[in-house]
Amino acid sequence: MSACLLPPDSGALPYRGVMLDVCRHFLSMSEVRRMVEALALLKMNVLHLHLSDDQGWRFESLKWPKLTTHASTRPKTVVGRPANYSNHDLHPENYLNQYDDKVHSGFYSQNELRELVAFAKSKGITVVPEIDMPGHMRAARAAYPELGYNGVQQEVACSWGIFPEVLRVDEPGIQFAKDILGEICDVFDSPYIHIGGDECPKAEWAAADTARKQVEQMDLDPDHLDSYHKLQAWFTGEMAAFLASKGRKLLGWDEILDGGAPDGVVVMAWRDWTHAAERATKAGIPVVQAPSLLYFDYAQGPEKDEPLAIGPGATLEQVYAFDPFKGVPEERRDLVLGTQAQLWSEYIPTPEHLWYMAFPRLIALADVAYHGEKRDSYEDFLKKLPARVEGLKKLGIEGHPLP
Ligand code: ACM
Repeated sequence: MSACLLPPDSGALPYRGVMLDVCRHFLSMSEVRRMVEALALLKMNVLHLHLSDDQGWRFESLKWPKLTTHASTRPKTVVGRPANYSNHDLHPENYLNQYDDKVHSGFYSQNELRELVAFAKSKGITVVPEIDMPGHMRAARAAYPELGYNGVQQEVACSWGIFPEVLRVDEPGIQFAKDILGEICDVFDSPYIHIGGDECPKAEWAAADTARKQVEQMDLDPDHLDSYHKLQAWFTGEMAAFLASKGRKLLGWDEILDGGAPDGVVVMAWRDWTHAAERATKAGIPVVQAPSLLYFDYAQGPEKDEPLAIGPGATLEQVYAFDPFKGVPEERRDLVLGTQAQLWSEYIPTPEHLWYMAFPRLIALADVAYHGEKRDSYEDFLKKLPARVEGLKKLGIEGHPLP
């Protein structure tokens, strides 16, 4: 029996998704719906919406209203790559950055999202929402400085990278997270709720008295980095239990394994993914395979031939050859729920560019996921591709030229 909780269908893999990052660049609801229609055409069944990040908060909260009045807007956006790109993980807001002077803003109301969920459901697609915690909290912290330990008021981030501002994980932070996830569960009917968990720097926690005390109460050394990975694992466990009380399962990026993953979660494997998938499945934890090969914000070939992208990426042929079971022993294959393409949007500012980056690679991934080993040869796939591209054009979607 499949470990997947999505409505069963006849796809080889039960979870076949795409992630839209609507934070770095907002996407109108009509474009989100266009993606849903495209997914239905390809027999994909999950739309993962990445709804919060450092550069913008996109989910309307009735309990925390400044998330939409403040955290959904940034005053400007870095142009091209941040100036210190080679080291952008550490200092994303380098003074050498060039910025446009354009306000970037947007969020979805709860009603709009409920209507999206119903529309997607009518097409066989589940919308999996993500609120990224406890890292990637800069926008939320700009609206509510009290969500951090130091109370410092910051701007919503205007550049790309990993920011040090994270959620406090004592009582006020836990209450915030439960309030938001409670509202998320009211709006979305997905059995899986994604809480992010990726790229959470630990320096703020290690410097905060209350976090240090929490760690000591766990019998851990507050001067040891690993203790704070365990503190994140504790946070993940609290969220998993909260979601379980609402009949949902927690889904998180593979960092949730780092401090020892709590029971009953699902891991989305992205960093060193075969290793992450091996670690997860060994512990009996189901995985969705989302490796960098499937990061469609990377160029579809050598960068010199393509518009600015986050880096050089996989070709159509490489995507079609993707093996979602790599790294997973035969006897644990049932724990591979499926696979997902990522469309992070730092370098995808418009819907037209989104379609260009996503297609035709998403058609290839859809066939890997739906037909599995029974899919056509690559040559036959290519022969049939023009007709499928015509189908997408009828939806208003124009992808990358075919090879
Ligand atoms: C990720 O790419 N930060 C999941």
